Amino acid sequence: MNVWQRIIPAKWTDEWLERLAWAGPQNCAVTYLPGRKTARLEVYALTAAQRKKLTREFGGRAVSKPQASWLAPQRRAFVLPLPPWLCLAARAAAIPPKYRRLPRLIIPAGLAFGTGEHATTGLCLRQLLKHLPAGGGARVLDAGTGSGLLALAASLRGARVTAVDYDADSIATARANARLNAGVPPVTWRRADLLQFKPAGQYTLLVANLFADLLVKALPRFKQWLAAGGTLIVSGILRGQEAAVAAALRKERLTVSARFRKGKWICLVAKL
Ligand SMILES: C[S@@+](CC[C@H](N)C(=O)[O-])C[C@H]1O[C@@H](n2cnc3c(N)ncnc32)[C@H](O)[C@@H]1O
Repeated sequence: MNVWQRIIPAKWTDEWLERLAWAGPQNCAVTYLPGRKTARLEVYALTAAQRKKLTREFGGRAVSKPQASWLAPQRRAFVLPLPPWLCLAARAAAIPPKYRRLPRLIIPAGLAFGTGEHATTGLCLRQLLKHLPAGGGARVLDAGTGSGLLALAASLRGARVTAVDYDADSIATARANARLNAGVPPVTWRRADLLQFKPAGQYTLLVANLFADLLVKALPRFKQWLAAGGTLIVSGILRGQEAAVAAALRKERLTVSARFRKGKWICLVAKL
């Protein structure tokens, strides 16, 4: 896999991630080293030409990494308890006894974004669970499903779920995760570009953990796909990009009802 690396001042991380937004936040990794003012920035899944361009513009170095090393940081077992009712883990055996009675999703590290460790996934998951009616009956679209985690959580909560991603590896991983979580009702998986996707109907809740530029472009479509009174949850927005996304929401007459921040990441909840 083509990777580009550069050492950056840790305090400029946000600016670098904004600059590299075109590569997709899921492909950028920043490693902070304890006690150091610098961090290692890496961009994955580049074409050879993109990697060359980055090296020409910003220095740094181009490296080739086997896929296994890309996954290595995610391999450790993790458990994210989500009170009051869901437990996420990479392996069933990793769940501490006190969480074992909770309904759970097993999401191992795979080729797709979304094991629950990333701030934006956690932000979306919490809002998703909060806005799904306890008795089920919601119609949910997971726009940019990655590992399928959000779609599977919504389905486990009784929603009828469609999940879309344009990346073949993501859809394959999401399907594999669905098989691993056999108790979860079926999700409709669709491989499609969100800027071309044609939904079969409208949704009461749409969750989109993407990146700011794409959200701004896709918002007019998302609005059409939402049923009256529907809820839109968007994340993958860096702090410096929030104003642009908020303005696009206003333009579509979607009213922001809540805002959440984790580190440099923002999640907005809006209503139609
Ligand atoms: C940041 S990941 C989010 C994954 C997961 N929903 C989560 O919250 O962890 C964004 C996902 O959107 C997909 N994606 C990006 N642009 C897309 C587009 N134009 N159409 C469909 N999927 C897209 C990527 O392939 C990736 O799997």
